[in-house]
Amino acid sequence: MCGIVGYIGYRDAYPIIIKGLHRLEYRGYDSAGIALFDKGLKVYKKAGKVRDLENFVKDIKMTGTIGMGHTRWATHGAPSDRNSHPHSSGNRRLTIIHNGIIENYSVIKETLLAKGHVFKSDTDTEVLIHLVEDIEQETGLGLLEAVRIALNKVIGAYAIVIMSADEPDVLIAARKGSPMVIGVGKDEYFVASDATPIVEYTKNVIYLNDNEIAYIHRNELLIKNIDNTIQTPYIYELDMKLEMLEKGGYEHFMLKEIYEQPRSIRDCMRGRIYPEQGKVQLGGIKEYKEKLKNVDRIIIVACGTSWHAGLVGEYLIEEYARVSVEVEYASEFRYRNPIITEKDLVIAISQSGETADTMAALELAKEKGATIFGICNVVGASIPRITDAGVYTHAGPEIGVASTKAFTAQVTVLTLIAFYIAQLRGTITQSKLVEYLTELNEIPTLVERTLECNDHVKHIAALFKDSNNCLFLGRGSSFPVALEGALKLKEISYIHAEGYPAAEMKHGPIALIDDELPVIFIATKNSSYEKVVSNIQEVKARGGHVIAIVSEGDVDVKNMAEYVIEIPQTNEAFVPLLATIPLQLLAYHIAVMRGCNVDQPRNLAKSVTVE
Ligand code: AGP
Repeated sequence: MCGIVGYIGYRDAYPIIIKGLHRLEYRGYDSAGIALFDKGLKVYKKAGKVRDLENFVKDIKMTGTIGMGHTRWATHGAPSDRNSHPHSSGNRRLTIIHNGIIENYSVIKETLLAKGHVFKSDTDTEVLIHLVEDIEQETGLGLLEAVRIALNKVIGAYAIVIMSADEPDVLIAARKGSPMVIGVGKDEYFVASDATPIVEYTKNVIYLNDNEIAYIHRNELLIKNIDNTIQTPYIYELDMKLEMLEKGGYEHFMLKEIYEQPRSIRDCMRGRIYPEQGKVQLGGIKEYKEKLKNVDRIIIVACGTSWHAGLVGEYLIEEYARVSVEVEYASEFRYRNPIITEKDLVIAISQSGETADTMAALELAKEKGATIFGICNVVGASIPRITDAGVYTHAGPEIGVASTKAFTAQVTVLTLIAFYIAQLRGTITQSKLVEYLTELNEIPTLVERTLECNDHVKHIAALFKDSNNCLFLGRGSSFPVALEGALKLKEISYIHAEGYPAAEMKHGPIALIDDELPVIFIATKNSSYEKVVSNIQEVKARGGHVIAIVSEGDVDVKNMAEYVIEIPQTNEAFVPLLATIPLQLLAYHIAVMRGCNVDQPRNLAKSVTVE
């Protein structure tokens, strides 16, 4: 996934674009580039981060009030200067930035090569701008029409911005399958992959739809479909605030977002739970009460951390709502030809709402007649715009690539959905709901108390930061927490880590136990506590290093494990919301101690909008 920013208006474009690229760097950061128009089209680009691009141009006068910029996560063509965006046409009169994949680029490239086009990069993006150039030259049509015709020949996903030396007061933007937001300011327009580079200038935005092209002139905005029909744009007002995008004094966005969890969980529940009445209200799915009362099967599709949240949801929905749940990797589900009928409810979980595999899985479910819901964190993202209904997590922008507050917000929403369906189907008594919701209402406070373990976790991190492998074990709804703890550690510290059901140890992983291997158990006081204690003893007996997340006051495990991290006692249903916190902090501190780039880990992007 890449980051795209464009500007046209009365201000100098360069500072706006560069600041916007910094805000979007979480989307991709292996190379960056910028194009400006000022007495001619000027393109500057190189491998490396946005700050490397700034260094590269620091002695150049970067003038002009129209421009665009790109920060890349490589798909076609390795990260290098020549594969960086923007890419230019053969005659250098046109230049493009692109997020997505042109699937039929090689066929198009063959045709253009036969016509004498010469390419400088290995990218699919360069082929697209040469195609536009070819159409302009063959038809004599203007830029907008040439782009529209070109996009009708393209198969794949794109969010593009194009500039032309022959039309210096115009940006052309278009999208299909990759996000694109247009900011509508006073005598100025902004274009970006999401609202984060726009919000400090205007809160009025238009979410471009698939197959739409925007012709953005200095004082005119025209939106067409690629079939040439004029579209009437809807202007949304953003509820995002600028300070949400700053680090707020934290060293990394990830740490800030870990500490935001008391607030984000509170925001996620706000207006949705009434503990005294034992009532859950979910406005986003209330039209589907009958469906939820009678549904026999719920299928959850997601990727990565969101898939882990789905696994927690499976335990909660089956336990409390007594509805069968299957949790699927979206990337497998979409290619497996699954058996889906109109009786099914398919729920996609996605922080970004842009993950290509999750989107495709949802579209497949829709095609097969299922009702489709979304659990997303970004209002107006692609997934919420195709679903029948859904529940936003309201966690606020999550900038750190490693998902933290989004995970606990997703689990919170799934908890609310489990209780909501239970309420509709009468599988929980009113008095029990009062009890559960009263306890759930306390969770933000308990998260605050859990965060007090930070210094202790930092001490443990220092002892295990040089490990090469790590095992995370849990039972019941703590098994997905073990998976999530392992993912956090591996994706930001690059230590190999695996999560397993604790009972599964005996079927293989126990062979890994030695005095090098840290084994982290989630061993809170709940229905499987005794069983987990036996697993701890099995590891101890083989010389493993045991670190255990335990309930406050636990002495049994404290006498067995080398290190324990205590979390407040809470109902088993809510343990994932607390037990995940120390694992997030452990991964964070180990990664920092290993000198890793915590907010922008190598090879990763915040949202994978390509397959
Ligand atoms: C989690 O820390 C990772 N960044 C990654 O696994 C992420 O959860 C996954 O790519 C799904 O993203 P989404 O929630 O935006 O769909």
